[in-house]
Amino acid sequence: MTVSIDIGEMAGNARAGMDLEELLATRLLVQGNSGSGKSHLLRRLLEQSTPWVQQAIIDPEGDFVSLAEKYGHVVVDAVGTEKDLQMIAGRVRQHRVSVVLNLEGLDADRQMKAAATFLDGLFDADRDLWYPMLVVVDEAQLFAPAAAGEVSEEARRRSLGAMTNLMCRGRKRGLAGIIATQRLAKLAKNVAAEASNFLMGRTFLDIDMARAADLLGMERRTAETFRNLDRGHFVALGPALSRRPVSVKIGPVETAGRGGTHKLMPLPDQPKEEAKDLIFTRSADEEAPRRVRTPEPVAST
Ligand SMILES: Nc1ncnc2c1ncn2[C@@H]1O[C@H](COP(=O)(O)OP(=O)(O)OP(=O)(O)O)[C@@H](O)[C@H]1O
Ligand SMILES: [Mg+2]
Repeated sequence: MTVSIDIGEMAGNARAGMDLEELLATRLLVQGNSGSGKSHLLRRLLEQSTPWVQQAIIDPEGDFVSLAEKYGHVVVDAVGTEKDLQMIAGRVRQHRVSVVLNLEGLDADRQMKAAATFLDGLFDADRDLWYPMLVVVDEAQLFAPAAAGEVSEEARRRSLGAMTNLMCRGRKRGLAGIIATQRLAKLAKNVAAEASNFLMGRTFLDIDMARAADLLGMERRTAETFRNLDRGHFVALGPALSRRPVSVKIGPVETAGRGGTHKLMPLPDQPKEEAKDLIFTRSADEEAPRRVRTPEPVAST
């Protein structure tokens, strides 16, 4: 059965389709700087494909929770133990329920460990449960970072291992990785290299452009055009999309994300003294903050 997902519009009003079966076999990488429209694109893809295929979304910002109401995804808040999360992932495969793994509010270390546990749980399902499933990872550079960062080595190793399994060995198990990143240069190379389909959005930095050109087998000069793309416009290439690079304007979505573009608005008029009171005085109904960041150590000179 061939199912073509309508992702948007190409030049001359032609529809841009994505072959779902081919996508399951060949995976997808989406890249574009912040605000280029990646999460919107993922949402379009998820909404359009929801009747056809089971979905799991690894959601670091809680952006996709709003899919649940309209499309029936179950939201899994990563609050329980790792054992709980692993068991839930197993049941997700057994009962073929679409889910959003909501990692909002967790620190980076816990986000990585929770994503790793959940992905491993999907991956380790018994052979008779290997039904096809889209596994969408937004902000994939958080889970498969190219370089060691401030997180623990254990979190990095586990998360990178789970992402590598998803992209390199997931197909046989029915898992199709769809990963999105703001910065290609920050995403582990072996994870990015396993996708055969690409949707490239607005990209500013030379280092990301160079990585994109390498991945797509393009001249650097051709990849330069990614700099001029408008929000919501992506260059599509790959067996599930198009054999040649084509420009696509991603279509509208049914549910709302949280990533808004912020309109400028005038500041309220306030005498200076009052403004001081507003921020230094605790009001009666105010709660203590949930998370306090540890200040950066000051470098000694
Ligand atoms: N094709 C589109 N049509 C209409 N609006 C769009 C489109 N693409 C993006 N937008 C709007 O632009 C804004 C930014 O898009 P989005 O949140 O998808 O960016 P992003 O690439 O995910 O950014 P970040 O990396 O910061 O998460 C959103 O308000 C979104 O609704
Ligand atoms: Mg986003």
